Amino acid sequence: MTKTLIKVSGLYKIFGAKPESILPMVKSGATKDEVLAKTGHTVGLKDINLEIAQGEIFVIMGLSGSGKSTLIRHFNRLIEPTAGQIDVEGEDVMSFTAKDLEEFRRHKMSMVFQRFGLFPHRKVIDNVAYGLEVQGLEKSKRLEKAQEWLDTVGLQGYQDQYPSQLSGGQQQRVGLARALCTDAEILLMDEAFSALDPLIRSEMQDQLIELQDKLHKTIIFITHDLDEALRIGDKIAILKDGELVQQGTPDDILLNPATDYVEAFVKDVNRARALTVETVMQKPALRITTNTIEEALKQMRRSNSDYGYHVTDDVYQGVITEETLEEAASGDEFDSIEPCLYEEVPTISSDDAIEAVLPEAISSDYSLPVINEEGELEGALEKESVADIFVDKEHPTEKEEEKQKEAS
Ligand SMILES: Nc1ncnc2c1ncn2[C@@H]1O[C@H](COP(=O)(O)OP(=O)(O)O)[C@@H](O)[C@H]1O
Ligand SMILES: [Mg+2]
Repeated sequence: MTKTLIKVSGLYKIFGAKPESILPMVKSGATKDEVLAKTGHTVGLKDINLEIAQGEIFVIMGLSGSGKSTLIRHFNRLIEPTAGQIDVEGEDVMSFTAKDLEEFRRHKMSMVFQRFGLFPHRKVIDNVAYGLEVQGLEKSKRLEKAQEWLDTVGLQGYQDQYPSQLSGGQQQRVGLARALCTDAEILLMDEAFSALDPLIRSEMQDQLIELQDKLHKTIIFITHDLDEALRIGDKIAILKDGELVQQGTPDDILLNPATDYVEAFVKDVNRARALTVETVMQKPALRITTNTIEEALKQMRRSNSDYGYHVTDDVYQGVITEETLEEAASGDEFDSIEPCLYEEVPTISSDDAIEAVLPEAISSDYSLPVINEEGELEGALEKESVADIFVDKEHPTEKEEEKQKEAS
């Protein structure tokens, strides 16, 4: 079971002279623009409810001004809510004393900023070690640890340089190393990659995913870029004008955008690149689980499929057709299924991107077998399911319209 690490309930944040007095108006449904026009107050966040599980990368996405930074600044109480509650590991952050809060910020959550936030007059190594210095760790220990993290992010040799001597990507690696160096369980990354060139940015995304596979931190990652969100997020929450319009897995968001706003974001995404085989694969139509031709033919005839996936001891062997089996049964060359009887069909893996398997999926006469690391048959990728990915949800096909009617 995954454990909830951060829980936000009924969170409102209104900026202005008398935020509490504006709350009833916001609660009764006034829009951000109306509130601003009538009262001069800015609605930062409106009724936010979400849970972040331990060990996941939780992405908060939205356009500039949608409230992303305001939201995560509540997590370590850099901002106080107008109403609502923020629990971290079951503790209400508003109940923390000043001392609790200091401990919490030093040990529990560290932050990586968009503009790197490095000290220009400190060497790279001293920037990385900064958090440990604040924690009171002695010099030799903290430098040793800082060096380890510098090596981990690929900056060995740069320890004695100053930030200005490094490229943007390298400076952000220093920022990341600094955040990781404190051993904080939670990383808050506010548009941490947004200032980087696309190529460097993509490298940083890869590195973050790679690091996370080893470290299993809880990472709250802010971005205004849906491609980035889809690439690195386990969960994505989408904000608009301070409201949470949708949260879910990347596939949820892509396949079932909740509002026109989300739909507009999703439109430009290359779905074939963003979706994996796992989301669209089906159960294989027919498993042939015997080695003898006679039995195999019987299994085939009982199904309405004219080919099947031969599986022995749970391990996938190959695709065999009814026609081949009939021929083999009528001759006297074969009693049992031999490798030479299989069709030539490529196998794929459930975490392959659809884009990577598209040519095979479309040109194959058979649904492609999806095989796991143990060689077991997990599913099959049907051509129709692949085609469905490209169907415009705003203009459903007749078949989909029927389905929707049935459902409602
Ligand atoms: N200290 C503040 N005082 C007044 N308004 C603020 C303040 N901080 C943020 N806002 C407003 O709150 C909204 C959300 O801002 P922010 O959280 O910075 O958005 P994002 O990080 O998504 O770009 C914006 O309309 C912004 O102008
Ligand atoms: Mg921001």
